[in-house]
Amino acid sequence: MYETPDQDIETFTRSSAIRIYNADDFEGIRIAGRLVAEALDMIVPYVVPGVTTGELDDRIREYTLDRGGLPACLGYKGYAKTVCTSINHVVCHGIPGDRVLKDGDIVNIDHTVIVDGWHGDSSRMYAVGDINPRAKKLIDVTYESIALGLAQVKPGGTFGDIGFAIQRHVEAARMSVVRDFCGHGIGRIFHDSPNVLHYGRKNEGAVLKPGMCFTVEPMVNLGKPHVKVLSDGWTAVTRDKSLSAQCEHTVGVTEDGVEIFSASPAGLFRPN
Ligand code: MF3
Ligand code: CO
Ligand code: CO
Repeated sequence: MYETPDQDIETFTRSSAIRIYNADDFEGIRIAGRLVAEALDMIVPYVVPGVTTGELDDRIREYTLDRGGLPACLGYKGYAKTVCTSINHVVCHGIPGDRVLKDGDIVNIDHTVIVDGWHGDSSRMYAVGDINPRAKKLIDVTYESIALGLAQVKPGGTFGDIGFAIQRHVEAARMSVVRDFCGHGIGRIFHDSPNVLHYGRKNEGAVLKPGMCFTVEPMVNLGKPHVKVLSDGWTAVTRDKSLSAQCEHTVGVTEDGVEIFSASPAGLFRPN
């Protein structure tokens, strides 16, 4: 996800146009979206107690390269890994390494691929062994919120409608939506205009038009929404150490609704 810019940059991106893609462009993003989903499907059986996040990163990198995809995060703004692995109170941008997953952890794996210049960006939650009921509830609410947000994606709707639907559901469950990171336009550019906020008001923001492509990637905390970035410059954690969950799809606006480019071919988007 993209760091919510300060006011100056936000003014700049707001005034910059949201790209409209044609059918050929959609096919490019569709292929990238499918590969990222297949990689996130492939890793499911490996997300078990005892594995390190670095091993998962290696596996996803090899899988992606073998299929003609480039890992978009590798080298992006100096990031040195293929995926982000965000465990428990890590909100996003956790860096894979020696951390061993243990029973009861919840982990988000966020992966972005480039195929023929087109980006596909998706993330999911994975439950490691048996997780506790609060963690399960957090994941449920996060997945329900993205579904409600995506149900608002249709021509004539607004970005505010998406954010409103997500925020309303999360807050009704007495959880909170992270404000410091947002979704983003996507295509040939990884993080393009517009910023896709996961909170908002009905009928506000830009109007959705056929051909727009962007991510929706709500981050939901069991506690307060506030985050801080650790000294590694990447890892964002909840300030109150509460659990956090996220899921992400790359989508396009069609003539009558939404196409989810990163839908799981194996039906594994949501953890069991
Ligand atoms: N995939 C993330 C997103 O959803 C971005 C990660 S950038 C990285 O936009 F450099 F941290 F990998
Ligand atoms: Co993203
Ligand atoms: Co992502």
